[in-house]
Amino acid sequence: MKIRILLSIVGLGFLAACSAGSGNNLDTQEEKIRQMISEMTLEEKIGQMQQVNDGFFGDDEATKQAIREGKVGSFLNMIEPDRIAEFQKVAIEESKHGIPLLFGRDVIHGFRTIFPIPLGMASSWEPELAEKAMRIAAIEASSMGINWTFAPMMDVSWDPRWGRIAEGCGEDPLLTSEFAVAMVKGFQGDLNDPTAVAACAKHYVGYGMSEAGRDYNTTYIPEPLLRNVHLRPFKAAADAGALTFMSAFNDLNGVPTSGNEFTLKTILRDEWGYKGMVVSDWGSIEEMINHGFAADKKQAAGIAVKAGVDMEMATTCYADNLAQLIKDGAISEEQINDRVANIIRVKMEMGLFKKPYNSFVSADTILAPSHLEMSREVARKSMVLLKNNNSTLPLSKNIRSLAVIGPLADAGRDQLGTWIFDGNGDDSTTPKQAFGEILGSRMNYVDGLEYSRDKSTKGFAQAIAAAKNSDAVLFFAGEESILSGEANARGIIDLPGIQTELIAELKKTGKPLILVVMAGRPLGIGAEMDMADAVLYAWHPGTMAGPAVADLIFGDFSPSGKLPVTFVKGAGQIPFYYYRKNTGRPATENDVVYIDDIPRDSKQLSLGFKSMHIDYGVTPLLPFGFGLSYTEFKYENLKLSSGEMSKDGSITLSADIRNVGNFEAEEIVQLYVHDKVGSITRPIKELKGFKKINLKPGDKTTVNFDLNAKDLQFFNGDAYVIEPGDFEVWIGPNSDEGLKGTFVLK
Ligand code: NOJ
Repeated sequence: MKIRILLSIVGLGFLAACSAGSGNNLDTQEEKIRQMISEMTLEEKIGQMQQVNDGFFGDDEATKQAIREGKVGSFLNMIEPDRIAEFQKVAIEESKHGIPLLFGRDVIHGFRTIFPIPLGMASSWEPELAEKAMRIAAIEASSMGINWTFAPMMDVSWDPRWGRIAEGCGEDPLLTSEFAVAMVKGFQGDLNDPTAVAACAKHYVGYGMSEAGRDYNTTYIPEPLLRNVHLRPFKAAADAGALTFMSAFNDLNGVPTSGNEFTLKTILRDEWGYKGMVVSDWGSIEEMINHGFAADKKQAAGIAVKAGVDMEMATTCYADNLAQLIKDGAISEEQINDRVANIIRVKMEMGLFKKPYNSFVSADTILAPSHLEMSREVARKSMVLLKNNNSTLPLSKNIRSLAVIGPLADAGRDQLGTWIFDGNGDDSTTPKQAFGEILGSRMNYVDGLEYSRDKSTKGFAQAIAAAKNSDAVLFFAGEESILSGEANARGIIDLPGIQTELIAELKKTGKPLILVVMAGRPLGIGAEMDMADAVLYAWHPGTMAGPAVADLIFGDFSPSGKLPVTFVKGAGQIPFYYYRKNTGRPATENDVVYIDDIPRDSKQLSLGFKSMHIDYGVTPLLPFGFGLSYTEFKYENLKLSSGEMSKDGSITLSADIRNVGNFEAEEIVQLYVHDKVGSITRPIKELKGFKKINLKPGDKTTVNFDLNAKDLQFFNGDAYVIEPGDFEVWIGPNSDEGLKGTFVLK
């Protein structure tokens, strides 16, 4: 990769003004911050607390004047490097205190080179990959002048209706935490480097629990659940050095998260000692009026400042009201000073006072071949094989003819997924292109449906004919990117439109039927899975979707992804997550009486008084952690270094994994624990570790996990505790299967 640093105009004047930069010399840095604040007027301090969208002040001259006067601390959605350099020059050389600006942008899963949606990346269970991917995203974004991104998103969600499930890492707090840390590291890299982009841990907190999966909706999360699940990725990100946090949109237990003293002050600042900066989500301070938590913008500003929101995104509750709130005695200038200190600290940690303001990496790094290669690798490793009857896959590249059908086989923009402000569909290699390149005239391509919601059957006949004339059928099903992401919640999570009808028609041809599903959420695809011989869940795979799908379909690599979220049979089963509680009336599949089997004249009061659905039963469509491979792995020989663990000790668990199939492949080995009795009830399983291995046919390896007593800690409503007692433990290929052992915590 070619990195060229542009140093044509170097503003050195400010170097003398502030030489602290991203130093370890914290005392000096804090002193400088406080000194600077003591020299600022109240208006200048409030200016630092304002983030505005590009164009907010009018034309560029008006913008420069506002910067000179210290009316703004950050811009979002400005992406021209020359303009950014010019504005930064004005901030540093012409504003009174020479405080640099932050230029923020949503770079969620890539800048121009787009990687799979985060839920897809999480399916790789390889956080190191996400770190590499987000490093590339930072290199590309910083070449455009961006020095701050609003990512990673680490909202744990159990709800596939919620469109933003696409942006997170699924349902598990450990997996999400590991990815959050990796992405923070990837974005920020070395803060002294011109390619560093400040990360933002969002959306703090609980936003993924929006009722009914309807975006921006109310959330109720009891404190044990908040601490044991939802706060964990944020704590991990804070510990990993995430420079900023974003307060969310949601009302949490009656208090909007952008005015929530418990989460923003008690937990984030007092318990965790977080020294970074908190930005509100777009308009979320003002939205406290709609929540019914503030009567007007002035009250909203006071609430947010007191809770600890340092910077306001987009709206102007702060700019318009903070001075008056101080005059009224509702807040103190000292409170403002603390907020501003957090902002200046981040700018110093980023080295912005020291860095030449236009030291951007050359834009010719964008879409560099190495970036595209990484995008292809991550995409390949993010796809999950859900079914493969009779080894339908892989296909031979010598296949006589292959029908490639479906609305998402040639949708360059949609394969990129949600939140890709700077992604460009024209950069994509689609499956149609990739398969066409490999097969030439042996590919029979027909779209069948123009798009996922198309309700016209006019393309069916041609699609059926193509299937009949081919040796196998590859159908690209799913949903376009607009059907997931922010605000794009669905109440029905099935395949949209009449894709299922077309799949049924293709099935009738008797040809091997392979589904590739591209989607931003786990869809309810039980019926389609029943019809298909093989199903590959590809999520929205990004720029290199086509080559990545081809790599797997033709067996250049085995699929290795595993589900980071439970797949439900239908929306009525939501929420269904693997670490659920047991209930007092647990049912097994044997207990279930299905609705069709209930006699019409049944006089029974109940069907067994058990916790079950008489239509869905008690199992999900697919469990968390599930994913098939072209080979078969055998798990054997579970060993525990001891059957007892002391309260501050640890044990080692191991299992032998053998590749008993015919294909070299990667396997994600998972460790689960069940705490049998607790001072509050405990989940039936909790993921405590995972490791990826690669085995050639016939090879075997021993996978070890160290489990510490500390890993068994949980919050019980009063305190974090490690409670003695009996534990069950599994090493397995998913949350439903595995070798089981037991130990006692003394
Ligand atoms: C609102 C979204 O919730 C947030 O994720 C995003 O970063 C901001 N808008 C800025 O675009």
